[in-house]
Order: sequence, then structure tokens, then C-alpha cells
Amino acid sequence: MKSLPRYPGQLDWLKRLFEECHQAFLADRPVDKALGAAFRRFPNLGAKDRRFYGTAIFGLYRYWGWLRGTVSPDPLLGLYLAYFLEEEPPSQLWSEALGLPAAPDFPPRGLNAKLAWIRTFVPQANLEDLTPKFLPPFGPSTLEALSQRPPTWIRLAGNGKFSLQLGQIKHHRHQHLNTAIALEQPLDLQPYLGEVEIQDLSSQAVGLACAAQPGQSWLDLCAGAGGKALHLWQQMKGKGRLVLTETRESTLAEARERFGSTKGVEFVWLATDHNLDLGGGFDGVLVDVPCSGSGTWGRAPWLRWQLTPKVLAELAPLQSALLAQGASQVKPGGVLLYATCSLLEVENQGIVQAFLAQHPEFSLAPFADPLTGKPTAGERLVLPEEEDSNGMYFCRMKRVV
Ligand SMILES: C[S@@+](CC[C@H](N)C(=O)[O-])C[C@H]1O[C@@H](n2cnc3c(N)ncnc32)[C@H](O)[C@@H]1O
Repeated sequence: MKSLPRYPGQLDWLKRLFEECHQAFLADRPVDKALGAAFRRFPNLGAKDRRFYGTAIFGLYRYWGWLRGTVSPDPLLGLYLAYFLEEEPPSQLWSEALGLPAAPDFPPRGLNAKLAWIRTFVPQANLEDLTPKFLPPFGPSTLEALSQRPPTWIRLAGNGKFSLQLGQIKHHRHQHLNTAIALEQPLDLQPYLGEVEIQDLSSQAVGLACAAQPGQSWLDLCAGAGGKALHLWQQMKGKGRLVLTETRESTLAEARERFGSTKGVEFVWLATDHNLDLGGGFDGVLVDVPCSGSGTWGRAPWLRWQLTPKVLAELAPLQSALLAQGASQVKPGGVLLYATCSLLEVENQGIVQAFLAQHPEFSLAPFADPLTGKPTAGERLVLPEEEDSNGMYFCRMKRVV
């Protein structure tokens, strides 16, 4: 591993990019989007430099619970510690710029060892500081997994030229889903999109639990940019009717672009205060609701600190309302899938139990867990530590009458 930075100008860039990202962070905007926008404005920054800046900045938010006191007045100390905690070696140049007599030893792996290490700089640090105080504590292995970036998972959607690329990079296939592949090295997937889709393993499991069939009609109520909808359409072998609804116009446009001009697929923009009027009668409805995203904190570490009790309290009624709307579109005998990328019970089992209590026409529909093959009673919580993926909850229900 080469230590960075190699020249002082890289520290100036790091500071500059951090300032932009931090403004986004404080305004509850996504840090990855802010960093991506900055990179587009400065196309001369090379791929290795970008990786360096991204690692230090993402690391800072991953360990923000420990490092928040180290970024002012100069963010370079916090970024330096974050780089260590991300298991990358900062160069001597960086230690000297901070006036440190010598670089500290590299921290050992694992959160407990990292905690002991960071206490040299932040004596009051504790493991509990890594979770917002108002949330119930996560188990140690979940907290550990949420402190690491999972690999990029892809779904093989075609069967042609992409397989050739796989021979050239480190990867592993999922033991049950042979179309799910974790890339262990960076790879530009842009030329292969369509052949492969970037889709987390847990999200692929949701698609498979839907088990959409050719010729059926499906509604994806919170379609986003169409990640799960593309998977449904693949299961339907391009035959039947698929309706994507979404409140963000630009996101729906992205989904439309990913599908191209596919006959049988409809895109419907909804106002936030919409009355859903799609005629009902769907064989299946997927309700992949907006949520805290707590299962994705390994990939998007800033989200952990942008969640507040108010945000969480506002999500529950929206999630319940969307589930009820989705339910209204399911035909008797049809299926309803509820999904979140959250690990929090209030957004998962809490919403489903309240729904089932109010809707006796629905009941849990058992399915085989796509990740293990084992039977479930109708719901599944994928923990991020199980398979090095995002965490996700999904529940399959059936309309009985
Ligand atoms: C978890 S994301 C969906 C991700 C998407 N299913 C995928 O697989 O890529 C939730 C989506 O719900 C959308 N949304 C928020 N409020 C909504 C509403 N009232 N009706 C429909 N969609 C809504 C958000 O804009 C967001 O794109």
C-alpha cells in the first residue's frame, strides 16, 4: 500500500473538497453527490487522487462520533485520523504538516482495537458514540459491519460479454444466487450497464422474494431510479405490465432512461399529496418505502448523523400510508411486498404488524429466503454482517380476499 499524500498540494485539495462536502453534510444533503459534483468540476484530478480524497472524507463521517471534535479549526487532523481508521497509511508528509513528532502506529483491525487506538487522540471516545444516542444500540457485529464499506454487488442481467471481464478481476459469486457477484476490485461498469446492474445483494433478495412471473401485472410504488423494477422486469422476461410510480421527477426520468423504450412498462409521476388512482387489480405491488437508510450506513456513513428523532418520527406515518396505498392496488390472491433498507424495528416489523392488524384481508405469505434457501414465515431481516452487504428488511404478504 502506497502512503499518501505525495506532495503538499494534495492536502490543500483535500481541505478544499472536505469544505464542500461538509457544507452538504450540514445541510442534510448526500456527501457522495457533493464529492461527485466537485470531481466533475475538476476533471484533472486523477483516479488515485480521487480515491485518496474520498477515503479520507468518507472515513471522517464513518467515525464522526469520535472525530467530530477534531475538524475545527483545521480539518486536516480529523481527516488524518480518519484515513488511519480506514486502514490506509498516511505519509510522513501529512504527519509533518500537522506538526506530529512521528506518525502513530497503524491501528489494528476491528472496532475495539480502533477504539483503543483513537483514545490517544480522543480520550473520551466510546463505542456507543458511533450510533446516534436516540436509537436502540446495535449488536457488536452489526456495528462492526456498519463501520465498513461493503463491496460493490452486481447482478448479471445478460449472458454475454461481461463474463469475459470477470476473468480479469478479483470477485466472488454468491453461494446461492449465481447471478449475484461481489467485486473485490474497482471496475468501470459503465460500458456494461444493461448486461449487468449495480445492485446490492440485499436488494436483489427483495426482487427475488417478489417472484414476479411473465405475463403478470406489477406496480413498483416507490420506484426510485428503477433498480428493483429492472429486476422485476427481468423476472417477467419482458412480458406483462409493469408500472413505476415515483414522486421525484428527475429520479423517474433516470428510471425511464435505464429501461429505454420498453413496451409494457409505464412511468407515472406522483405529486407528494397524490391520490393513487391506477385502477387496482395488480398481481403484485412492491412498496420500497423511503426510510432511515440505517442498513446502508456502511456505504453512506454520513446518513448515520443526518438522522434525527424528528426525521424518524415523520417517516413512520409516510411508510404506513404508502403500504396502505400499495395494498389498495393488489387484486385478491395477489401479493404485496414491503421493503426498507433499515434495521430499525419501528420502520419494519412495527409498520407491518400495524398494517396487518388493520387489514385482515392480508396475511403473511411464506417464501424461501433467496439468500439461504431456508423457509421464512413471510419476512426477512438481512443484517449487514451476514454477507457483506447492505442491511434490508422485506415482508411478503398475500391478499386473501
Ligand atoms: C427506497 S427508495 C426506492 C428505491 C428503488 N425502489 C430502487 O430499488 O432503486 C424510496 C423512493 O420513494 C420515493 N417516494 C417518496 N415519497 C413517495 C410517495 N409519497 N410516493 C411514491 N414514492 C415516494 C422517493 O423519492 C424514493 O425514490
